[in-house]
Amino acid sequence: MSDSPKTFPKLRSRAWFDNPDNIDMTSLYLERYLNFGLSLDELRSGKPIIGIAQTGSDLSPCNRHHIVLAERMREGIREMGGIALEFPVHPIQETGKRPTAGLDRNLAYLGLVEAMYGYPLDGVILTTGCDKTTPALLMAAATVNIPAIALSVGPMLNGWFKGERTGSGTIVWKGRELLAAGKIDDEGFIKLVASSAPSTGYCNTMGTASTMNSLAEALGMMLPGSAAIPAPYRDRQEVAYLTGKRIVDMVAEDLKPSDIMTLDAFHNAIVVNSAIGGSTNAPIHLSAIARHMGVDLPLKDWETVGHKVPLLVNLQPAGEYLGEDYYRAGGVPAVVSQLIDQGLIRTSAMTVNGKTMGENCKGVEIEDEKVIRPFDQPLVTDAGFLVLSGNLFDAAVMKTSVISVEFRDRYLSNPDDPEAFEGPAVVFDGPEDYHHRIDDPATGITANSLMFMRGAGPIGYPGAAEVVNMRPPAYLITEGVSALPCIGDGRQSGTSGSPSILNASPEAAAMGGLALLETGDRVRMDLKAGTVNVLISDEELAERRAKLEAAGGFQYPASQTPWQEIQRSVVGQLNTGAILEGAEKYQRIAQT
Ligand code: FES
Ligand code: MG
Repeated sequence: MSDSPKTFPKLRSRAWFDNPDNIDMTSLYLERYLNFGLSLDELRSGKPIIGIAQTGSDLSPCNRHHIVLAERMREGIREMGGIALEFPVHPIQETGKRPTAGLDRNLAYLGLVEAMYGYPLDGVILTTGCDKTTPALLMAAATVNIPAIALSVGPMLNGWFKGERTGSGTIVWKGRELLAAGKIDDEGFIKLVASSAPSTGYCNTMGTASTMNSLAEALGMMLPGSAAIPAPYRDRQEVAYLTGKRIVDMVAEDLKPSDIMTLDAFHNAIVVNSAIGGSTNAPIHLSAIARHMGVDLPLKDWETVGHKVPLLVNLQPAGEYLGEDYYRAGGVPAVVSQLIDQGLIRTSAMTVNGKTMGENCKGVEIEDEKVIRPFDQPLVTDAGFLVLSGNLFDAAVMKTSVISVEFRDRYLSNPDDPEAFEGPAVVFDGPEDYHHRIDDPATGITANSLMFMRGAGPIGYPGAAEVVNMRPPAYLITEGVSALPCIGDGRQSGTSGSPSILNASPEAAAMGGLALLETGDRVRMDLKAGTVNVLISDEELAERRAKLEAAGGFQYPASQTPWQEIQRSVVGQLNTGAILEGAEKYQRIAQT
């Protein structure tokens, strides 16, 4: 990184601040941006204007530390000869937003595209963090395609309870089982959960936030080694400053998202996702970013490129440790280095620091092999996702790194063994139905049941709810049955260790096969063949479809807000990123 004075290519902000052909408008733009203390000289000096897309707010506590970090970003920008303009991004809070935070990803994307396109910005820092904030910002950067660099806010410090690590999100699933089994009371449950969140930052588990920030770095959109730095660490402040400095250079070099987020970069991200035990939300978000970037990334690539990759990172929910441990063990570069040695990384992929993935990560050592395993001592082999299909859906994803050893040996690992899991379906129409009926013996769930959640996709439960991982009824948990196969058209929290089959597309609300399923139908799940099928004839399925269509189709709750209605009318399915269909035709729209 050089600190010498720069020459910049023709900057798009000149069209606002220095346009002799339209002096009327230029005067208007200039006088108003002087409002908070910038001078005419500065605005007309040819300095690049750098946006700080601010996702932190009181409504978004996971990202709130970005408000502090922005000071250091500004100093870096200023030092390299840029001018910083910070602006708010529509808040997305994973755990606080009703009905789902998934509903807000595309809304934040839309707002950010307008801000980046319609204002005098030459480059932008994307302040990423909580689950949907990272994809929303990368999607917008892909569409607009001005120089952009992501800055993670970083995970919280490790949570602790009675001498054991408690990971955010993951502890909730465990706590619910303890509560259902009568081992803790309500107060104990809340204390246990609160212990997992000891500081500012995002979830300290390898949930969707840690996953998406690791993948932003693996895509090349974040400074190497920066994704995993915990939010309160001093290194986090330092990298905010370095990110501010670097974006100004990127504008000088005209290094844009389209130079970085290539097919190679997406394949690197898929490989890294397997090695870190990343979230099942990652395929949705990477598909969305790729479509806005104009990169063809079929869902099947997750299996063909990612399935054979082992799990190396020992973080909850697939493993034991948490965010601070991940950072101290070396973070993304240490993981990528192991994968480079096996030829699994496209090393020539360009990154935001102007160097390739290979130059950044080759030879980076693991600092703690309990937390990041060397390639030849993995936690789980073949740890990537499976992409399944059948007569209930065209595509669904299964995270294999969290399958129990018994289940894996029995149904997945032995290619000569024809055994498949078969049992009666129990169908729930949305999470409310599940909560009402799960512990009622009349629901008829046994240790052989397969539990189905439908009406939870992007249209049915607007944004797609994280509800497919369902605990068994309390009466089975007390008998020692802690998990049953779960299948559904919704999503699942990245902090869940459940090997559910989820993101099933098309969803029931779009009249996918799940809409036709009835409780009591026998379903066969053959992981080796990659299929899930209901064992009834095509004729019977066609009859059920005709009947349901005549009755007005699959029913789901009415929209409660204008955005719910708008998004439902244009959103695509989870297997293709659940983007606003049609928006992908606007590509690389920034002009100078
Ligand atoms: Fe925001 Fe987990 S709830 S990162
Ligand atoms: Mg989540």
